[in-house]
Amino acid sequence: MVVSNLAMACLGYETTRASRLHLVLVVLVFCISSEIISSFAELQKFEHAPKDDGSISFLVVGDWGRRGFYNQSKVALQMGWIGEKLDIDFVISTGDNFYGDGLKGVSDPAFEDSFKNIYTAKSLQKQWYSVLGNHDYRGNTEAQLSPVLRKIDSRWLCLRSFILNAADIADFFFVDTTPFVTKYITDEKHLYDWRAISPRGTYIANLVKDLEEALRKSSAKWKIVIGHHAIRSAGHHGDTPELVRHLLPILKAHNVDMYMNGHDHCLQHISSLDSPIQYLTSGAGSKAWRGDIKRYNSQAMKFFHDGQGFMSLNLTRSDAHIVFYDVLGRVLHTWNLSKQLHSAV
Ligand SMILES: *[C@@H]1O[C@H](CO)[C@@H](O)[C@H](O)[C@H]1NC(C)=O
Ligand SMILES: *[C@@H]1O[C@H](CO)[C@@H](O)[C@H](O)[C@H]1NC(C)=O
Ligand SMILES: *[C@@H]1O[C@H](CO)[C@@H](O)[C@H](O)[C@H]1NC(C)=O
Repeated sequence: MVVSNLAMACLGYETTRASRLHLVLVVLVFCISSEIISSFAELQKFEHAPKDDGSISFLVVGDWGRRGFYNQSKVALQMGWIGEKLDIDFVISTGDNFYGDGLKGVSDPAFEDSFKNIYTAKSLQKQWYSVLGNHDYRGNTEAQLSPVLRKIDSRWLCLRSFILNAADIADFFFVDTTPFVTKYITDEKHLYDWRAISPRGTYIANLVKDLEEALRKSSAKWKIVIGHHAIRSAGHHGDTPELVRHLLPILKAHNVDMYMNGHDHCLQHISSLDSPIQYLTSGAGSKAWRGDIKRYNSQAMKFFHDGQGFMSLNLTRSDAHIVFYDVLGRVLHTWNLSKQLHSAV
């Protein structure tokens, strides 16, 4: 696209045939290096208007699609009640949307059995913003990203990486974390859909660059990054070293407030001790109770629940109110953050 646009721009000038050809060649050589093409890339951006009172509220759930089993339906029911109480604007899914191997194609019945026919409460008939998890990569990732699914259920929106803007309140940066994790590349037991990812090094480098650019441009009060894999976790999988290395430095450099993830099938809140970042795990949408919690710095660890549940957030420009709920909708943990508003605004 970049190549043809530039070539067309060049062709728009009155030139001789020879110099035209020359220009096209120069442009082609210029653009063929992926490095240069990537500098034109930008993460796709969506807008979600806040409520009239200047707040947004939403639920966060992860690791869910099991056709209602493993208490997925019970969690869905409670999400419906809490969603109504908070008058939520949207739902965020932290990935592993369809177990065990993602979707086979756009007509895979799992889409209806694990999503459409499970999250049926009125309050959940809102836009869902989703990322892919490692289990989704074991299926047809293009199917999960396909607009065809939006025809079956208009709530569905899943992309590899994208930005969601809620006016001047918050920017949400959704990041495709699975390609970062080396162990999937060398995993011989499962097949992964790496079609859109290779060459992997370029994919990751471009993604990190695009994310950094987007974070730098963001002027919203709250910067929230979402990925499937944890940066910090005391759960089964623990920290993800690749994300600690590639993502965390830019999150810190750009004053990100929260990082939200799934992957570990638990609810968890860890406060960074050397930055403002709150690490929030909501990966308890169905199967849980793994029972192997790691020792963790007790000053950083604010809350850990090994069972099912989900999380809600209510954000205004000045305040963030975070709540974790269990499978019966009981409040397990709350956390409030506030920001100084500049007097001029
Ligand atoms: C589902 O939740 C109930 C509590 O309502 C709990 O007793 C049960 O063990 C949970 N089942 C699974 C599979 O986690
Ligand atoms: C969200 O916060 C705003 C501002 O504090 C408040 O007016 C609103 O009632 C809150 N919404 C919920 C659902 O708690
Ligand atoms: C956060 O604010 C809410 C509403 O004002 C309050 O009910 C809750 O106790 C607060 N939580 C903490 C940890 O301060």
